[in-house]
Amino acid sequence: MTVSRQAVHLTSHLDDTYLRQALRHDVRTGLTSTPKWLPPKWFYDAAGSDLFSRITRLPEYYPTRRELSILRRWATDIAARSGADTLVELGSGTSEKTVLLLDALAATGRLRTYTPVDVDAVTLDDAARRTSRRYPDLVVRAVCADFERHLALLPRRGRRMVAFLGGTVGNLAPSAREVFLKELRATLGPGDTFLLGADLVKDTRRLVAAYNDGAGVTAAFNRNVLHVINRELGADFEPEAFEHVALYNPRRDWIEMRLRASRPMRVWIDALGLPVSFAAGEETRTEISAKFRPEGLRRELVAAGFLPGRHYVDPTGDFLLILAHA
Ligand code: SAH
Ligand code: TRP
Repeated sequence: MTVSRQAVHLTSHLDDTYLRQALRHDVRTGLTSTPKWLPPKWFYDAAGSDLFSRITRLPEYYPTRRELSILRRWATDIAARSGADTLVELGSGTSEKTVLLLDALAATGRLRTYTPVDVDAVTLDDAARRTSRRYPDLVVRAVCADFERHLALLPRRGRRMVAFLGGTVGNLAPSAREVFLKELRATLGPGDTFLLGADLVKDTRRLVAAYNDGAGVTAAFNRNVLHVINRELGADFEPEAFEHVALYNPRRDWIEMRLRASRPMRVWIDALGLPVSFAAGEETRTEISAKFRPEGLRRELVAAGFLPGRHYVDPTGDFLLILAHA
C-alpha cells in the first residue's frame, strides 16, 4: 500500500502549554461564576470525539443524516458555485461528510488543497491521513487550532471555500457567533466562499431527543468534560455523580446541556488550587446548540459582511446549508 505521507502537513497552534493554560482559564472562570458553566470545546479529546462519532449514528440524532442528504444532492452545485481550489474545514472532526464535498470539488478539476482544522489533534491527524490516502494528489494541510482564536493564522493561499458543518456554529453563544463570523469574513477575499451548516428550529420533542438519546451516549459525552478536567487539571470530579440534562429554551431557540449534581459535592481542582462546591441539584451549563431560521441566519451573515447566496434545505425541513460569498 502506498501511503502518501509527504502530502500531509500538520501545523499546531495548540501546544500542551497553550491547551492547559486555556483550559485552566476557562475552568476557573466558568466554575467560579453563578450559575456555573464550562465551554464545550473541552468535550473533544480523543474519547470525546469517539463519543461524538457515536452520537452521529444514533437514531435520535438527525442532523448528520440530514446534512449528508443535502450534500449528496447538492455537493456538485455547491462546488461549481464556489469555484474553489482549496477547501478549509472548521471543526472537521472525522471529515466523513467532507468526502462528498471533496469528490465534487475534485470533479471540477480545480481542487488542490484540503485544510481540516480541529482542536482534537488525534482525530485531526487520523482524518488528515485517511483523506490523503483517498486523494493521492491532494495536498492536506491539517491545522490543530481553536477557530475562536486562530482564524487569522490559517493558510490564505488559493481560492478558498471554508466549510463549517454539523451545526457547530450553534455551539457558539450569539455574541461569540457574531465575533466569529466577522473574524472569518476578515480572513476571506474576493472569490472565497463560506459553506455553513445549521440545524433549524423544529418540534421541541425531536430537538430534545437528539440531545438526550435512549442509549445514554450523549450523557457520556456530556460527562466527558469532567474526565478531561480530572486528567488535565488533576481534579477529583466523580463524573457518574452528575446527571445529564438537555432542555430546549424556546425564548433563545437553543438546546442547553447541563450537568446536574445528584448530591452536595466538594471538588478539588489541583492545578488551580481551587475547591468548588456543588449544591444538590445544582446545574452547570456545558453547552448550547442554537437552532436557526433561514432568514435569521442570512441576516447574521449579512451583518458580518457576507453575501449569502443559495441555501439548501433537506426534504424534511430539518437542516440547512448556505453558501455565502465573501
Ligand atoms: N464537522 C463534524 C464534527 C462536528 S462536532 C460533523 O459535522 O460531524 C464539532 C467538532 O468541532 C469537533 O470535532 C470538535 O473537536 C471541533 N471543535 C469544537 N470547538 C472547536 C474550536 N473552538 N476550534 C476548533 N475545533 C473545534
Ligand atoms: N455541533 C453538534 C450539535 O450541536 C455538537 C453536539 C451534538 C453536541 N450533540 C451534542 C455537543 C451533545 C454536546 C453534547 O448538534
